[in-house]
Amino acid sequence: MKLSRLLSNQNGVSRKQANALIAAGQVVIDGQTCREPAQEVCRFAVVTCQGQTIQPGYTAHYLMLYKPAGILSATTDNTHTTVMDLVDASRYPDLHIAGRLDRASTGLILLTNDGQWSRALTEPVSEKPKVYRVTTAYDFSPDTIDRFAAGIWFEYEQLTTRPAKLEPVSGCVARLTIHEGRYHQIKRMFHAVGNRVVALHREKIGEIQLDCALAPGDYRPLSPQEINSVHLA
Ligand code: URA
Repeated sequence: MKLSRLLSNQNGVSRKQANALIAAGQVVIDGQTCREPAQEVCRFAVVTCQGQTIQPGYTAHYLMLYKPAGILSATTDNTHTTVMDLVDASRYPDLHIAGRLDRASTGLILLTNDGQWSRALTEPVSEKPKVYRVTTAYDFSPDTIDRFAAGIWFEYEQLTTRPAKLEPVSGCVARLTIHEGRYHQIKRMFHAVGNRVVALHREKIGEIQLDCALAPGDYRPLSPQEINSVHLA
């Protein structure tokens, strides 16, 4: 957001007054006086005007976590351990989950306190591919690849899933790439073709790959490159 707009969003400050305050050197961004009304202000910057806080600023955190089986993708739960219980909350406060996994599923979970970033990652319109390793109860029938590519009809939502890419690895194991995240999506897709998922592991979301150095339950901060691979609208 431009500085003049941020300032004039304050109660009782007109755009003209905002520009005058900025020109008079009354506005400070991250400790530096800014005299440019058109200056874009990062959402994490601390902004003050005449010593009053306009935007408090905060530290953005981005983590990848290797979710073990049996752990809930939820913020809190009275009975089950959640992915948040695995993270040091005093060091990484106010995190939320950018794309859940079922309790039995394993693999890549992204956690952040940056809502704009997680929306860019998970909104259907952004179509970030998600890659899973799937183990099924039965061998894939020959038409499964084509049926997933054509889309599977979901009666409850009254929609056809987006084209998904199934690449058999061996026997009952395959790699599946989908571009959306509907409730139990992969289980329901396999159910629709007469098969059953017995294990599901998420390897990748967009450009971000689960770090093979992480053990189940471990996490690490994302690198700047991983963070910037998600383009904000
Ligand atoms: N699809 C599922 O059915 N389960 C998951 O955990 C993720 C995608």
